[in-house]
Amino acid sequence: DTIYVLNGPNLNLLGTREPEIYGSDTLDDIAGQLEDRARELDLDIDMRQSNHEGHLVDWLHEAQARGAKAVILNAGAFTHTSIAVHDAIKGIRTPVIEVHLSNPHTREDFRHISYVGRAAKGTIAGFGALSYTLALEAAARF
Ligand code: DQA
Repeated sequence: DTIYVLNGPNLNLLGTREPEIYGSDTLDDIAGQLEDRARELDLDIDMRQSNHEGHLVDWLHEAQARGAKAVILNAGAFTHTSIAVHDAIKGIRTPVIEVHLSNPHTREDFRHISYVGRAAKGTIAGFGALSYTLALEAAARF
């Protein structure tokens, strides 16, 4: 079984981007951690990142078309703005787990609304890179 791990805007900058908020792990480091755990769980990871909203929409559709077991989605700032990503999650039957490195609820007001969270099966936020691994633990049990 394959788990799609989709990452939105600015997450390519992880490692150097506001490390006091997001930690010092790069997206490649996170991919490595996920692959280690996925191997133990007998799962495959398909990890991607884009700064473009429509790519996330296309990849959500693709996850269903290719029969992915689940999607782990960190939509970055599109979390708080994108009805298109919300509708794509609603439009597929593949379960989507919302993840964030930081805890948006402890941050600026504009991060307190999540369009992703209103469509996702559940949310894991605030545990840094570990948020992704915790989401994988959940996906493995679907
Ligand atoms: C984030 C939180 C978002 O508010 C922010 O726009 C990001 C990263 C996180 O993982 O903590 O880009 O999704």
